[in-house]
Amino acid sequence: MIKIEAIVREDKTEDVKQALQDINVHGITLYQVMGCGTQKGYVGYVRGQEVDINMLPKIKFEIVVSTEEWEQKVIDVIQKAAYTGTPGDGKIFSYDMRTAMRIRTRETGAEAIQPRRQ
Ligand SMILES: Nc1ncnc2c1ncn2[C@@H]1O[C@H](COP(=O)(O)OP(=O)(O)OP(=O)(O)O)[C@@H](O)[C@H]1O
Ligand SMILES: [Mg+2]
Repeated sequence: MIKIEAIVREDKTEDVKQALQDINVHGITLYQVMGCGTQKGYVGYVRGQEVDINMLPKIKFEIVVSTEEWEQKVIDVIQKAAYTGTPGDGKIFSYDMRTAMRIRTRETGAEAIQPRRQ
């Protein structure tokens, strides 16, 4: 199993959700996060107050898939859906996951993350 994390622009949230639904990805977690990328660390002033204007609100998606083929598909559709071509479009990370369990059925591994009849 592989976990994919994607940090995208807030206003791309719906596009990314739709793109994942279009390829039949069902399990999605998302968070509101703050972050910065490579244009880091400069300080700005808002009404005389010093603020770190480079920590910007972003949306983080987490998706766990069962195969490398799905990993590639998910990364590809997120990249396309979140793209504007300007700095701050975001990042996609993926890594190996040890385990998963569907609480209701105690299914583990790939079975736990696949769609299931009731
Ligand atoms: N190395 C990293 N580790 C963890 N989170 C990161 C990393 N790089 C970027 N992020 C997250 O992704 C968000 C968007 O990053 P951003 O798109 O600005 O990356 P970038 O490398 O600066 O690319 P760009 O030059 O296109 O802006 C950041 O706000 C942060 O939440
Ligand atoms: Mg950046």
